[in-house]
Amino acid sequence: MCGIVGFTGKQSAAPILLDGLKKLEYRGYDSAGIAVMDGNTISVSKVRGRIANLCEKTGDGASVPGSTGIGHTRWATHGAPTEENAHPHLSNDGRFAVVHNGIIENYMALREELIRDGYRFQSETDTEVIVHLIEMYYRGNVRDALIKTANRLRGSYALGVICSEEPGRIYAVREASPLILGIGMEENFFASDVTALVNHTRNVVYLEDGEFAELSGDEIRIFDCTGREINKKASRISWDVQAAEKGGYDHFMLKEIMEQPAAVKAAIAPRIKNGKIDFDELGGLVSELPEIRKIVITACGSAYYAGCAGKYALERLCRIPVETQLASELRYSDPLIDGSTLLIVISQSGETADTIAAMKECKSRGARTLAVVNVVGSSIASLADYTVYTWAGPEIAVATTKGYTTQISVLYMLALFFAERLGRLGEDAGGLIGQLQALPRRIQQAIDMNPSIPALAMKYHESRALFFIGRNTDYAVALEGALKMKEISYLHAEAYAAGELKHGTIALIEEHQPVIALCCNPSVMEKTLSNIVEVKSRGAEVLALTFRNNHKILSAADDLLFIPDADALFSAVIEIVPLQLLAYYVAKANGCDIDKPKNLAKSVTVE
Ligand code: F6R
Repeated sequence: MCGIVGFTGKQSAAPILLDGLKKLEYRGYDSAGIAVMDGNTISVSKVRGRIANLCEKTGDGASVPGSTGIGHTRWATHGAPTEENAHPHLSNDGRFAVVHNGIIENYMALREELIRDGYRFQSETDTEVIVHLIEMYYRGNVRDALIKTANRLRGSYALGVICSEEPGRIYAVREASPLILGIGMEENFFASDVTALVNHTRNVVYLEDGEFAELSGDEIRIFDCTGREINKKASRISWDVQAAEKGGYDHFMLKEIMEQPAAVKAAIAPRIKNGKIDFDELGGLVSELPEIRKIVITACGSAYYAGCAGKYALERLCRIPVETQLASELRYSDPLIDGSTLLIVISQSGETADTIAAMKECKSRGARTLAVVNVVGSSIASLADYTVYTWAGPEIAVATTKGYTTQISVLYMLALFFAERLGRLGEDAGGLIGQLQALPRRIQQAIDMNPSIPALAMKYHESRALFFIGRNTDYAVALEGALKMKEISYLHAEAYAAGELKHGTIALIEEHQPVIALCCNPSVMEKTLSNIVEVKSRGAEVLALTFRNNHKILSAADDLLFIPDADALFSAVIEIVPLQLLAYYVAKANGCDIDKPKNLAKSVTVE
C-alpha cells in the first residue's frame, strides 16, 4: 500500500515526481504529496484525493522549483485521508522531509517518547515518528541518523528522505517494503515499483531488507544496516514503456484482460522444451520431490483462488494431497507443517503482508517454499527457497486478471512437471502438454466468442445480488468470478458450490434473482444442470457459462456465455475470461472507477 518516488538530477523535480506518482497511484489513492528542495529550502505540497488534484494544485509541478525531491501516494492506515495525514511529513526544525510506505508497529511507544522529549506532532500517522527520530539523531550526518532511526523502528518501511543541509541528495531506506533505485544519466531515482521508473531508465537496483542508499545526480551509494558500503549489481528491466500505458483502452483492466493470451503464452512457452515441461529454476527441488508428502498452497484474494483452481491439476496428476489455505488464516493456525511439506506461495505483487507472514511461519516449521510471483525482486521472491516467475508483465489495474490466469498456468505446469519427475504421468503426457499449449489460443477464442457481454451487462447491472454457482473446477472459477464482480462493480456477488445450495442458500432465490452457473466441467455437468433447474423453478434468471454445443445447458438457461472446448483440468484460465469481461462491463454500466475501486489498493503490504 502507498507508493513512494524520489528524484535527484538537473531537471525540475516536481513534474518527474508527479509522473512517477501517477504510475504508482494503483498502490493507494486517497491523498498525495511531494517535497521539493530548491537550494536549502524544502517546500511541501499535499492534497486529499488523487494525484490529479496535486497536479492541479502545483500547476503540473511548475509552481514548485527545485531539482531534488520525494513524493508519496497514500492508502490510509493510521489516520484519515486528510491533508495533514498526507505525506511528506516534516521535522519540527523543517530540515527533514520523509515519505513512507509500510507500517511502524511500535509507533505509539515512540510517539509518546518523542512527545515527552518536546517534539510536536502534526498528524495522526505512524510515519511522523520517523521524521522526528531523524531530527533527534541528526548530528550533522544523515547516514548516521538514518541508521539510528532504523534501529528504533519495528515493522515495514520503504522510506524516502531529504535534508535541507544536503541539496541534491535523496536517501532511500528499505525494510520489508519494496524499493528500487533507478540509474539515469546525471540523474537518479527511487520508487516502490519499476513502473514509475521505466519512462526514465531501464537500469535498476533492487534494494534488499536492511539496506539503504544515498543518491545524488552523479552517483548512488548503497549501505547495509551497519553503515558498511556494499556493491550491488544493476538489473535491466526487460519490458518497455508501453507495457505500463493504457495503449488505447479505456481502462488498464480491459487492456490486461485482452493481454491474457500473450501473458499466458509468456508464462508457458519458454518452459516447454522438447515436448516436456522444464523449470530451470527448480533444479534443486527435483531431487527432494519424493520426500514431499503434502503440498500446501497459500495466498490471499484472487491469488488464493488461483491456488484453488490449480489444486485440482496438482492432485490429479501428482497424486499428492494438496491443501489450500488463506494466508491470513494459515499464519495464526499453528499449522501441521514440517519438512515433508512443500508450501506453494502465490502472489502477483510479491509483497502481500499476510502471505509473507504465512510463508515465514511455515518456513520456520521446516517447509520447503516455492513462490509463484509476478514482480521480479519482490520480497516473496527473495524469501522463497525456489521462485517461479509468472512473466505477466506489469499489472496496473487493482483487480487482477492476467496476474490470476498466469498464476494458474504456472500451477498447471508445475503439476505436469512434478508428475513427470515423480514418474506418475501416464501415457497421455503429450496430449496434456498440447492442452497447455492451446491455452493462449483458447483464451483468445473465449474473448471473441462473447460479443453479447456488454448487452448482458446492461441486463444485470442493477441487480441487488448475483450468485455464482459451480462444482469442482467450476466452483474454483466461480469464487474468482464473484470477487471480480463485487470488487469493481460494487454489486453483491457470492460464489457457492452448487451442491451446497440446498443446504441454505436456495432460501435466497426469488423471482428474477440472477444466478451465474458455470458448466464447463463434464464430470459434474449433469449435477449442475439439476441445480440450474432447481433455481429456475424458483424464479431465478440463469446466465450459464458453457460450451457452444452443450445443448442441455443451452436450453435450460436464459442467457449464455461461451468458452471453446477444452479439458476441464486446465480450463479455469479460459472460463474466467468471460466473467472478467462481464464484471468489467457491469462496472462500466454502473459508472465505477474500474482501475481504482474504492477502499482497495493493488498491493496489500499491511495486515
Ligand atoms: C483481486 C486482487 C486481490 C489480490 C490479493 C493478493 O482482484 O487483486 O485479491 O489477488 O490482494 O495480491 P498478490 O497476488 O499481490 O499477493
